[in-house]
Amino acid sequence: MPPKKTFYVTTPIYYVNDVPHIGHAYTTIAVDCIARYKRLKGYDVFFLTGTDEHGQKVEKAARDRRKTPQGHADLMVGNFKNLWKALNITNDAFIRTTDDEHKKIVREMLQKLWDKGEIEKRSYSGMYCTPCERFWTDKDVVNGNCPDCKRPVEHIEEENYFFLMSKYQNRLIEHIEKNPSFILPDMRKNEALGFLKNRTLGDLCISRPKARLAWGIPLPFDENYTTYVWFDALLNYYSATKYLAPPPVPPFIKEGGLWPADHHLIGKDILTTHAVYWPSMLMALGMDLPKNIFAHGWWTVEGQKMSKSRGNVVDPNEIIDKYGIDQFRYFLMREVPFGLDGDFSVHALKGRINGDLANDLGNLLSRTLTMIEKYCDGIIPGRTEPSSLKPLVFNLQSHVDNHMRNLQFHMALLEIWSVVSAANKYIEEAAPWKVYKDGDKTKLNNILYSLAETLRIIAVYIYPFMPSAAEKIWQQLGLKKGFDGIIFDKETEWGQDISGTKVCKGEVLFPKV
Ligand code: MSP
Repeated sequence: MPPKKTFYVTTPIYYVNDVPHIGHAYTTIAVDCIARYKRLKGYDVFFLTGTDEHGQKVEKAARDRRKTPQGHADLMVGNFKNLWKALNITNDAFIRTTDDEHKKIVREMLQKLWDKGEIEKRSYSGMYCTPCERFWTDKDVVNGNCPDCKRPVEHIEEENYFFLMSKYQNRLIEHIEKNPSFILPDMRKNEALGFLKNRTLGDLCISRPKARLAWGIPLPFDENYTTYVWFDALLNYYSATKYLAPPPVPPFIKEGGLWPADHHLIGKDILTTHAVYWPSMLMALGMDLPKNIFAHGWWTVEGQKMSKSRGNVVDPNEIIDKYGIDQFRYFLMREVPFGLDGDFSVHALKGRINGDLANDLGNLLSRTLTMIEKYCDGIIPGRTEPSSLKPLVFNLQSHVDNHMRNLQFHMALLEIWSVVSAANKYIEEAAPWKVYKDGDKTKLNNILYSLAETLRIIAVYIYPFMPSAAEKIWQQLGLKKGFDGIIFDKETEWGQDISGTKVCKGEVLFPKV
């Protein structure tokens, strides 16, 4: 048996101080698409998501709701788990940073760094932003405000523990430059390089006195301090492989199991923590770095920044109730190049549903099935001669694979839709209704087989994005099997024997809105 290739991909772990919104759904859906795709391609996939439950923000949210932090987290975590279920997300594990096993591993890692002399105790005074849970230098602060969130910072003086991150500045620059796909897209790589090259990287304060922040993991070498939330959070990517991942099925390719991750998908706002703090921590621990960190853009809503105060926060649950799960997944992956900012609007969503989904793909299916019913008693006919659709479908394989490897979901969909459009055009040009009238049965059979075969293969391609729609297409084509365990490269090959199958035209694939 050839070695099974493992593929490990993560979302950020989401703060439980709030309910999930479109931004959280975006990354999770993107990871789901790539995870589903890789499974079809034969990889042993580990898809991790979860929640970030320590720190000041969560502690404050719990206090506001008159709950203990743990009680509050236990309640809020359900919102994420339920949404992932509703969105058809196939995460293999869900990590909570309050899991005992995670806490134990974080303490082990801290102890290791302490023993190696990578952590030092120092007295420190600096400007602190409570909402961002971050110290800033005087130079960073803008008119007494945090450069990130623009809220006032406070002057704090205390003893703390510092991770000696500055040591890793040059190694990190070198790593980023030598590995062009370590940080993507390129503009984010350049941003990280700019950050590293234009300043002296400081050391990272990784503790908070317990008196100021009790809701965190105590430092193993000084129980009067808790761990800085980001230090705890970033380690989830590693700790999960130790207690939540099934051991990869041998023989597997990566020595030592799942680490390092193939992709960390994140939003652009958390680039520094992932592209600077995390790799330095791993270097200090003597561990491999993830192969890629991909930072996507942010969604605005109807042209406005999304915020609670504006009252325009998009609840994915409402959207999928109204417009459908696959429709929402498709919109997010198709509308905006992954990496750039985008705008969510009901108008744009409806446009995609009525255009790409209902008019293009939905119509292709319903026209094909109607003709098979009308001209062939509902039975997919046998093929006879080559079809002009075959080379187009053949070319999809390499294009889609390339785009999926680069996480360019919109490009993959664009390629798939070029075949959908070609198939619709093929119907117009081949005019099966005329061929039927002329009595050319061989030609008619060939046209209808080609259309059914194209749809069968398109369903495989759209499955990672719209799993239910893909299943429905196969069901309506009368195929008895589902997508579990299918082999992508085999199923996307033209010429499967589907002739003789009785189609069963069902409900409209994508109702217009
Ligand atoms: N807990 C940290 C991540 C730790 S990962 C080791 C965190 N959590 S978060 O809940 O605040 O944010 C999670 C993700 O949501 C981030 O990747 C962020 O970019 C994303 N988004 C928040 N608002 C967004 C939009 N408006 N649009 C797209 N993504 C957005 O940060």
